[in-house]
Amino acid sequence: MSRRKIVAGNWKMNMTPTQAVELVNTLKPLVANDEVDVVFCVPAINIIPAMEAAKGSNINIGAENMYFEDSGAFTGEISPLMLVDAGVKYVIIGHSERREYFGETDEIVNKKVLKAFAHNLTPIICCGETLTQREQGITIDFVRQQIKIAFQNVTAEQAKASVIAYEPIWAIGTGKVATTEQAQEVCAAIRVCIGEIYDQATADLIRIQYGGSVTADSAADLFSQSDIDGGLVGGASLKPDFGKIVNYK
Ligand code: 13P
Repeated sequence: MSRRKIVAGNWKMNMTPTQAVELVNTLKPLVANDEVDVVFCVPAINIIPAMEAAKGSNINIGAENMYFEDSGAFTGEISPLMLVDAGVKYVIIGHSERREYFGETDEIVNKKVLKAFAHNLTPIICCGETLTQREQGITIDFVRQQIKIAFQNVTAEQAKASVIAYEPIWAIGTGKVATTEQAQEVCAAIRVCIGEIYDQATADLIRIQYGGSVTADSAADLFSQSDIDGGLVGGASLKPDFGKIVNYK
């Protein structure tokens, strides 16, 4: 089964609008690669200027989060309608930092995933275990539970189009990348779980990324694993190295 790779940057809370334009302009020639889907998920205030700067390139500008309502009295939140109107296609949902610092539960993640699909946005759905959970030997059980809840009431057609990012929390921003075996094992288990919820065709089509301290050095090994369809990259997506990660082959 050959799935198109998807390499996404998650800028997190970095870059002012001015810096965002500069970074897009710097990276534009470095990430040119028509064989891979390239996404820069940027802070909401940077979406429009980054999109302007990326015009005519292969870069998709995505969002890092959105709310599960269309509009209303939700001060500070970003509506899916705003993302769609701005031309966004991809939105990260349920990143571990949002779960840890902003109280996002699996149920909230599910509401956001359903809302994203209602507006034809492609969610990049994050999952992943803590170091304690890994040491307790419950990684796969835990990630399967996250996936099962995130996909509740999601149709097979929607699931086929979605992207999952497996990001072990202990590997995020720590410089401690998972081994290719660890990453492949969990991504394969996620694919099995999707196959159980839906069917083999859905499991074959869904794209699963690895995230957590991906660098230009580790990308090739990780992305060539049979169940790893690209990466979700934090720190290294803010540097020229991101070009090497996109062109990992
Ligand atoms: P790092 O690549 O900085 O470890 O971050 C990974 C991540 O959280 C991407 O969403």
